[in-house]
Amino acid sequence: MARVLVTRHLPAGGLDPLRDAGHELIQRADDVALTHDELRSAVAGTDAIVCLLTDVIDADVVAAGAKTVKVVANVAVGFNNIDVAACRDAGIVVCNTPGVLDETTADLAFALILAACRRLSESERDLRAGRWSGWEIGQYLGVDVHGATLALVGYGRIGQAVAKRAAGFGMRVLHYARRPTGEVGYVADLDAMLAEADVVSLHVPLTADTHHLIDAHRLTLLRPTAVVVNTARGPVVDELALARALEEGRLFAAGLDVYEREPEIEPRLLAAPRTVLLPHIGSASVATRTRMARLAASAAVDVLAGRTPVNIVSADA
Ligand code: DGY
Repeated sequence: MARVLVTRHLPAGGLDPLRDAGHELIQRADDVALTHDELRSAVAGTDAIVCLLTDVIDADVVAAGAKTVKVVANVAVGFNNIDVAACRDAGIVVCNTPGVLDETTADLAFALILAACRRLSESERDLRAGRWSGWEIGQYLGVDVHGATLALVGYGRIGQAVAKRAAGFGMRVLHYARRPTGEVGYVADLDAMLAEADVVSLHVPLTADTHHLIDAHRLTLLRPTAVVVNTARGPVVDELALARALEEGRLFAAGLDVYEREPEIEPRLLAAPRTVLLPHIGSASVATRTRMARLAASAAVDVLAGRTPVNIVSADA
């Protein structure tokens, strides 16, 4: 029986693979995030860690667990919260949850595309606040989604799932990826694709290369009628530059689910016109969050049993 630190409470049934394998689960009774110091102490002497994207598994935490921990299983597909190289050097396997959240996240990305293009948040806010005095011909005019050009930055599983939805809306779909995809719509030059876009939707992991991929310069390449949607990771976009572009009318709208310093939200984004801002709920359906927890738990079980799970994160990823 191994000792498995589970940093937060997970959806019902999510930890069954670990329970069924007879492992001891170490969890706080309350569902409160561990501080960095608490996390460092908690990992010592454990065999496995099941954590969330809000837990920072940096070199200090890895060092604290290095003697005993064999696996860190992140209940998220993104793993920028984990120092994967430090884990590799300590002989710790890192796993994530690819595949099980693609469709749910793509649903949310498409919801943001629709909401930002058609100004859903701001018009509903006005209605609820009693600021709507009746139909007017020039009121809440948005931009059409059907027939628009959607530029997908990143064309992994989630990007492709968004592309499928876009086809149903009659959108023209382009995509940029680091390597040629061989698929219709591939554009090798990100800047050229942005210049053609009506809607830009981001689907890249956060790495040193994608930090501020959409920066002040790239925002100037977009049309003033364009819409930016981010369901990937906040730091992929320079938030201040985005807020400035919206304030100055150089961009029509933005739909965001992720932020540079979660849970802090840049005040200028909150004040910027035509922003739809959601609290990182891309994968937040009961079924998907349960699948994510089970996949992470199963990966931990596999590593503890000496098996190689399919969802291993490589330090080169
Ligand atoms: C992830 O899994 O990386 C998402 O951001 C949360 O579902």
